Amino acid sequence: MKRRKFVKNSGLGAAGIISASLVNSCAEATEKKDAPAAINALKPIVIATWDVPNATAKAWEVLDKGGSALDSVEQGVRMEEADISNQSVGKGGRPDRDGNVTLDACIMDHQGNCGSVVYLQNIVHPVSVARKVMEETPHVMLAGKGAEKFAVEKGFQKENLLTDKSKLEWEKWKETAEYKPIINIENHDTIGMLAIDQAGNLSGACTTSGMAYKIAGRVGDSPIIGAGLFVDNEVGAATATGVGEEVVRTVGSFLIVELMRQGKSPQQACEEGVRRIIEKNKGKLDFQIGFIAINKEGQVGAYCIQPGFTYRTYSSEGHTNTPSMSHIPA
Ligand code: GLY
Repeated sequence: MKRRKFVKNSGLGAAGIISASLVNSCAEATEKKDAPAAINALKPIVIATWDVPNATAKAWEVLDKGGSALDSVEQGVRMEEADISNQSVGKGGRPDRDGNVTLDACIMDHQGNCGSVVYLQNIVHPVSVARKVMEETPHVMLAGKGAEKFAVEKGFQKENLLTDKSKLEWEKWKETAEYKPIINIENHDTIGMLAIDQAGNLSGACTTSGMAYKIAGRVGDSPIIGAGLFVDNEVGAATATGVGEEVVRTVGSFLIVELMRQGKSPQQACEEGVRRIIEKNKGKLDFQIGFIAINKEGQVGAYCIQPGFTYRTYSSEGHTNTPSMSHIPA
């Protein structure tokens, strides 16, 4: 890979800073610093993509009371699904180009159980439907009308998810209908959340309304186990945000967990996951991808292609919002 510029945007102090240094490769960059976001031996802990204080606070509340990581991540991401000011998750999400809000979500526990819903409409909490799929069916994934029917059968209420604000924006978009995702606006999408509970067990959840004004029927990485989310209770967990197609192409979250299994820190693993995507795109990096990861020791890591991605942690030491380290395309 040709010489590229890396910066550390993290505000976590001096350790590991490679501020504005030029290095020969991502691997070299990784070797030259320590894991920047080591929150060692702090269990339990929750980490989420983007600045979602209400979600992490809710997740922490569950962990702090001795609740399971699974309950924690479900309760945490539900906060964003119900928040209509978040236009990339749940109710209030931006619609596809036909004006339909379609939701994708998945959840995975410490035993490798997982559930997922794709292209779900009219239901505010896809993550909870995904959990029902996991716990009350022999399947992993339900899609579209079948997922909606299943949700209603399980007692979820149908609701119109298209808010006036998102409808107005969509109508404005239709005037030109030039689909061009704007980095950190349209791609500012998914909430992925990972937690360790007091028993030391890991779980994760991931939920999104997907890319704004996508082609009807499009599904991203968020509901795909291994791509948008992966949990291995012996090793760690990872989740992704950004352009789902790129994450699917590298099976990003699974890759990051496997890299941790091979001995990489969460930070190093996230950087390697991004490096694989960079390699596949041969220098064309006009999109956002971000990964977060956590290992069994409670170390966390995060890395993104474009600057602007932040992640939030909550542990017994309180909560932090941290700009992720990022790769800046040359
Ligand atoms: N990462 C969410 C999506 O691409 O749909």
